[in-house]
Amino acid sequence: MIRAVIFDLDGVITETSRQHFQAWKAVAYMIGVEIDSTVNESLKGVSREESLKIILKYGGILDKYSKEEMEKLCFCKNEYYKQLISQFTPANVFEGVVEMFEYLRGKGIKIAIGSASHNAPALISAMALEPYIDYIVDPGDVKRGKPAPDIFLKAAGALGVKPSECIGVEDAVAGVEAIKAAGMYAIGIGDAEVLKEADVVFGSIAEIDLGIIA
Ligand code: BG6
Ligand code: MG
Repeated sequence: MIRAVIFDLDGVITETSRQHFQAWKAVAYMIGVEIDSTVNESLKGVSREESLKIILKYGGILDKYSKEEMEKLCFCKNEYYKQLISQFTPANVFEGVVEMFEYLRGKGIKIAIGSASHNAPALISAMALEPYIDYIVDPGDVKRGKPAPDIFLKAAGALGVKPSECIGVEDAVAGVEAIKAAGMYAIGIGDAEVLKEADVVFGSIAEIDLGIIA
């Protein structure tokens, strides 16, 4: 029996993957690294600090930066990212999301946000989705980021449900891996060729067959 659905935010509820990519691209360019969409795929679902490390490693300059310099680069990326999402409104919510939330509410199924992003609460508020959400995981509260299960397990714990009673919804390879590691049913959003570990994959939230949930 399904008692909760835990949604990733970036690329699932709204299109912020493009903005994350744009901000990282600019920061990477500043330090002489050019990143393409393949590199971006490996950044999805991954924390800000880990994303920077992936970029530095990709550029072969991982050892060149001190902890303080890396913190500054992360700060820069986030300032630019916040600028890019500053105009977000309910119009930025993907088609099908509100309908899905209403369906789940109607069935008494809890809704949580399990995002690696520290910007998640601000975005949820800007898109006026707060009334639907029972719990938002603070990524600062968990030890390990995705692909570790911590974020999804934290959500289940906070909602008082067992992992086996949860569905996770993710667009990132690292996120699907995290859901499966948590012992939950994984709905992938995107390309089935990429999200191989997911139990089922849909092109978008709007395409999810609600009957598979409850
Ligand atoms: C994830 C995104 O949801 O959050 C990643 O897919 C991002 O691209 C991560 O790096 C952390 O986000 P933020 O907003 O805290 O830098
Ligand atoms: Mg995502």
